[in-house]
Amino acid sequence: MMTNSPTVLHPDVERVLISEADIQKRIVELAAEIDRDYEGLAPVFIGILKGSVLFLSDLLKRLSVDCRIDFMCVSSYEGDRSTGVVRLTLDLRDNIEGRDILVVEDIVDTGLTLGYLKQNLMTRKPRSLEIVSLLDKPEARKVLIEPKYRGFQIPNEFVVGYGLDFDERYRNLPYIGVLKPSTYQPQG
Ligand code: IMP
Repeated sequence: MMTNSPTVLHPDVERVLISEADIQKRIVELAAEIDRDYEGLAPVFIGILKGSVLFLSDLLKRLSVDCRIDFMCVSSYEGDRSTGVVRLTLDLRDNIEGRDILVVEDIVDTGLTLGYLKQNLMTRKPRSLEIVSLLDKPEARKVLIEPKYRGFQIPNEFVVGYGLDFDERYRNLPYIGVLKPSTYQPQG
């Protein structure tokens, strides 16, 4: 049976930056905006694995527009550090020529990942392409990327949860949190 029990904080998390309730409330607003903007169209939502999975599934449940989904996987991070190298490890299944595309990301940080993806996808001649990102860290930007739909603007600090990981952990947390420094600093 479903309960409304309060969120239990993971022991490695120092503090919650964005609560589960605030995330869900914002997703309802974003879905309403997208429904309005894409009325009568049949957009394709491209989820960028793995970080966007929780956000994409909650967003899809709130949308009424006739839509399709597809996935791409890129890797650009080792631990919490950007290598600056973006590698495509899984490509779309379907052709997107002439389609209205919404690329769904967990976070825009330097913008390198989305800069690469946008360039790659534009060569496939979609009718339109916009970005939906749950989080945006504008202070960290190196490439000019502007999400049309953005959940929250956050300061330049490393966050985990709700799809976002540190060394593949913490993706399952229902909130966005900041880790205790002891979790990622070597003890000594
Ligand atoms: P960008 O290429 O620097 O914009 O980074 C995009 C990717 O880096 C995101 O899709 C995340 O997977 C990862 N990333 C950036 N900032 C964070 C963070 O604070 N926590 C976890 N992952 C992050």
